[in-house]
Amino acid sequence: MEQPGTDHPLKSYYADIHPTYDRVNRVFTFGGDARWRRKAASVCLSTGPSSVLDLCAGTGDFALELARQAGYPVTVTGFDFSSEMLGIARRKAEGSVRGPATVHFVEGDASRMPFSDGQFDAVGITFGIRNLIYENSRAGRHLEEINRVLRPGGRLVILESSRPGNPLWRIINSFYLRFILPRVGGLISGHPEAYRYLARSSRNYYTIGGMGDILEGAGFRMLQGKPLFMGSVMLLEASKIGSYDG
Ligand SMILES: C[S@@+](CC[C@H](N)C(=O)[O-])C[C@H]1O[C@@H](n2cnc3c(N)ncnc32)[C@H](O)[C@@H]1O
Repeated sequence: MEQPGTDHPLKSYYADIHPTYDRVNRVFTFGGDARWRRKAASVCLSTGPSSVLDLCAGTGDFALELARQAGYPVTVTGFDFSSEMLGIARRKAEGSVRGPATVHFVEGDASRMPFSDGQFDAVGITFGIRNLIYENSRAGRHLEEINRVLRPGGRLVILESSRPGNPLWRIINSFYLRFILPRVGGLISGHPEAYRYLARSSRNYYTIGGMGDILEGAGFRMLQGKPLFMGSVMLLEASKIGSYDG
């Protein structure tokens, strides 16, 4: 069934897989996902933002990592359109946020965010930008919204799957995504179709350079692009230079 704002039924995929989402991630990345989110959080906090948007927050691990790492009163807003994923995030946040940071979660669609222009000093997206731009007819609209809610000069930090540059590793990575992830994810979650989409979108996603071009065309300046896990994952940092209207 088609959902508004997506060309894949993403909302129902995440409603289906939310109970096992974290477990599949841990298994599939050999525990690397938590380490990569820690790195992304430290880049996101490096300029001392006082308000950070965790876009496509899912089960909340990145928002909670930002709160854990910040030693000052930052406000973290986790935003996602899946009430099921956010239900897990809210349960995790209960009692686990100590110290000066504040975390709250807001439900809504990335194509129409209920935030004012320039509201956030930084925007972080971990494993979510692929959903917003891969085979998504609202890709331009999503980039426009990210640009709108970030203040000029504010940082955009992206952690995402990427296509490795090394040809041998690309073959291994592609084999893993084509044959292992859909089966393992499908088996653990009971929803193979969701993991077929997730694996295929990862396999066909951009290189660091390709993603950099997209961001530069959308009103951002690329500051750094780091390959992680031999280039199967990328960590990008960009800053907003101007407005973008798709
Ligand atoms: C792969 S999960 C990533 C979750 C989390 N950031 C992480 O690091 O594990 C992608 C998330 O994006 C959300 N999402 C996809 N499209 C969205 C949209 N148009 N608006 C808001 N959230 C969206 C999904 O509900 C899902 O929770």
